[in-house]
Amino acid sequence: MTVTLAGAGAALPERVLRNDDFAHLNTSDEWIVKRTGIRERRWLADDASLAELAEHACARALEDAGVAPRDVRHVVVATSTGDRISPGVAVEVAWRLGLDQPAAFDVSAGCAGFLCALDHAIAVVESGRAEHVLVCGAEAMSRLTDTTDRSTAVLLGDGAGAVVVSAAGRARRPYFALASDGRQIELLYVDRRERLLRMRGREIYEHAVEAMAGHTRLVLDACGLGAEDLDLFVAHQANARIVRAVARELKVPDDRVFLNIDRVANTSAASIPLALAHAQEERVLRPGALLGLAVFGAGFTWGAGVVTWKDGVPAAPAGHEG
Ligand code: ACO
Repeated sequence: MTVTLAGAGAALPERVLRNDDFAHLNTSDEWIVKRTGIRERRWLADDASLAELAEHACARALEDAGVAPRDVRHVVVATSTGDRISPGVAVEVAWRLGLDQPAAFDVSAGCAGFLCALDHAIAVVESGRAEHVLVCGAEAMSRLTDTTDRSTAVLLGDGAGAVVVSAAGRARRPYFALASDGRQIELLYVDRRERLLRMRGREIYEHAVEAMAGHTRLVLDACGLGAEDLDLFVAHQANARIVRAVARELKVPDDRVFLNIDRVANTSAASIPLALAHAQEERVLRPGALLGLAVFGAGFTWGAGVVTWKDGVPAAPAGHEG
């Protein structure tokens, strides 16, 4: 049994904040674009539901995959910003989608959470325990944003993205490698009492490039592949400079590197599935493509993987704008 990503969906809150909206913090559009690649981000309204946003992303992913909700037996949501401490977002998403008592739980691994959830989902489908697993990354990073701190406030965004992991007859076998290093907790964390994201950005930068490039190389080597075999490379959208530096190290050509950070900013665990949905909408992600994925975040936690896109499954209608 092998598996593929059979569909993707995105959902973004309506409220748009442009770089100029942060001018009172003694920053500028020029600084933000040059240092990060971010032009705008979406923030969820204070009284809005993250589970509802996640539901929309998941519904679009299911429609894109041509999979009926009743055929999903397993839902995993990667998030650190759920509406409640307990229960997790996944339970509410599954209920909102009308699924029939599926397994449903959240994964908390910072920005690396989506890849951890995806790795789990792939193992569940490969083992034959489910034919389709819904994997979502949903974040309201605005809930953890210190709006008085220019060094983090301009970086974060809210959104949800989802993919359907499905059994596939003839797809290339996926391969993922995940890692963590708890010695680095103090460089990037959210304290239980303060509930605001704190990070030492410059120090994280170097670690992020090295870890994502190193693990992508490790995964490619394990699969007997080279960077030239990747049809599209999608890395955690924390900073366009970081993504480009990783791609340069790996020698992935520019036209195979996907960036959507300009319009969504850093959405933590929602970053990869949002990028996949947007890449499909922009038609740079086509059925049969071999994807390279890489993430890095708090902990540190990081990882990389290769997986095919819509390979060996029946064609389904294209996705919808979030
Ligand atoms: N506007 C203007 N100036 C700013 C701003 C801002 N918004 N933010 C910081 N500065 C200033 C700093 O105060 C500093 O001033 P100084 O030289 O007088 O001390 C100067 O700009 C340079 O600061 P650096 O931190 O060196 O800037 P850098 O080019 O490294 O960019 C950034 C900062 C964007 C945070 C970058 O380091 C980065 O992206 N780091 C990695 C972030 C990351 O990957 N996090 C992991 C994931 S976290 C998550 O995903 C939730």
